[in-house]
Amino acid sequence: MNIFHVSAECYPIAKVGGLADVVGALPKYQKLLKNEVQVIVPAYQTSFVKNQKFNTVFRGKTYLGNQKIDFSVLTLQENNLGFNLYLIKVGDFFDSADVYQFPADVERFIAFQLSFLSWIKETNQIPDLLHVHDHHTGFIPFLVKYTKEYAPKLANVPTFLTIHNAQYHGDFGFDKLHLLPEFDHFKIGLLEWNGRINPLATAIKCAWKVSTVSPTYLEEMSLAANGLEDLLRNERPKSIGILNGIDIEIWNPQTDYNIEYHYSPRDVSKGKDANKKQLCEIYGFDEKKPLFAYIGRLAGEKGADLLPHAISIALNKFKGDINILILGSGDTTVENHLKDLIPFYKSSYNAHIGYDEKLAHLIYAGADFLLMPSRVEPCGLNQMYAMRYGTIPLVRRTGGLKDTVIDIGDGGFGICHDQASVEDIVFSIGRAFGLYQDKTLMSKVIKMEMKRNNSWEQSAEMYLKVYQELIKMTGDVW
Ligand code: GLC
Repeated sequence: MNIFHVSAECYPIAKVGGLADVVGALPKYQKLLKNEVQVIVPAYQTSFVKNQKFNTVFRGKTYLGNQKIDFSVLTLQENNLGFNLYLIKVGDFFDSADVYQFPADVERFIAFQLSFLSWIKETNQIPDLLHVHDHHTGFIPFLVKYTKEYAPKLANVPTFLTIHNAQYHGDFGFDKLHLLPEFDHFKIGLLEWNGRINPLATAIKCAWKVSTVSPTYLEEMSLAANGLEDLLRNERPKSIGILNGIDIEIWNPQTDYNIEYHYSPRDVSKGKDANKKQLCEIYGFDEKKPLFAYIGRLAGEKGADLLPHAISIALNKFKGDINILILGSGDTTVENHLKDLIPFYKSSYNAHIGYDEKLAHLIYAGADFLLMPSRVEPCGLNQMYAMRYGTIPLVRRTGGLKDTVIDIGDGGFGICHDQASVEDIVFSIGRAFGLYQDKTLMSKVIKMEMKRNNSWEQSAEMYLKVYQELIKMTGDVW
């Protein structure tokens, strides 16, 4: 099969969140299963892009309304990513390191999608399947079917949408309809949801198949999707939940180049101690105390707004017998609250506001517990990274967290709570504190979680199976 993944993010080229990790890993595993796999992302000026050498393989033009846009397609001179990468330089829309630049994203991502389609059309590369991710690439399933420009060549190509987060739709007003190329106007309803142009809704309606990133989130999405619930319920027959995996080559405590002290399940205690010592030295923490960490976006969805209050209650309650470290950025009010706490709990709490991939790896390796009190978590990868590094996840039972973490009370390896509330977080920290005192149980739990196989292998095969069913349908549908 020749599969094309089109996305706004892909690790290590451009990363904001989990979308990048998935698009940087799933294609690699699909390629290992003997497929041709191409990944297409905009040519942002990220440090990865600036530090690599590229060849230009195609130059073309497209139109955003009346505006002519020149674009070029670049490939890496030396590629060891495990899949074919194409970057599209679209006018000067992506000449910065910022992946997202709302509100300019409407124009940016339409221009990107049109450039991509023009390139494959002009070069006669007809994919066996087009896999698009989230709303940034959501017009593609519509454009290939209903535009004069692309339908003649591409209408029969099966399209597959993965929803990584149904909260974000990328919607905008009909005043920008002219940005799209001429299409069959009987189909205008496919672009619309609640009176606006909604690329996520369009993709849900037009893609041959819709997936989301965990079975539980598939259920939850029909109940809470920022206004798309009815549509998702309607399209449920063509929808499926496939759990994300993790890239076990990158996330491997035995070989991870981001950490100094490597370890396996056999010498985990020694390995984690060494990493913890290094981490605690940076922040002036006492390494004998349990270290709780939070890594990720500081957003309401992730329950990050609950953290400042939960942290101060927990630190007061356990009177300096625990350490807490935060790494992330996002909502400025949450960032400020988290920073404001630092002077009050100097030797047991710190917050690193920002994004630091290397530090994240050290935290997974050195922390004892990872907090994930998410309100919404379509899959969540951090709990799986934590498990692989012998760090025990404390999660709210939602979405993919529910599908991947089993509570120690049920014979599992994590600590789960039901409410996204300060009380539940503090209660879970208390349970973790108790577990930390029981060294035998703690080490049993760590070994158990490290043995879990959360690699992409199984899920990559599931995707391929579904693709194959769609490809078989091609003849029937048209
Ligand atoms: C989004 C979701 C997260 C998921 C990731 C990758 O960031 O919020 O839960 O793991 O996408 O699919």
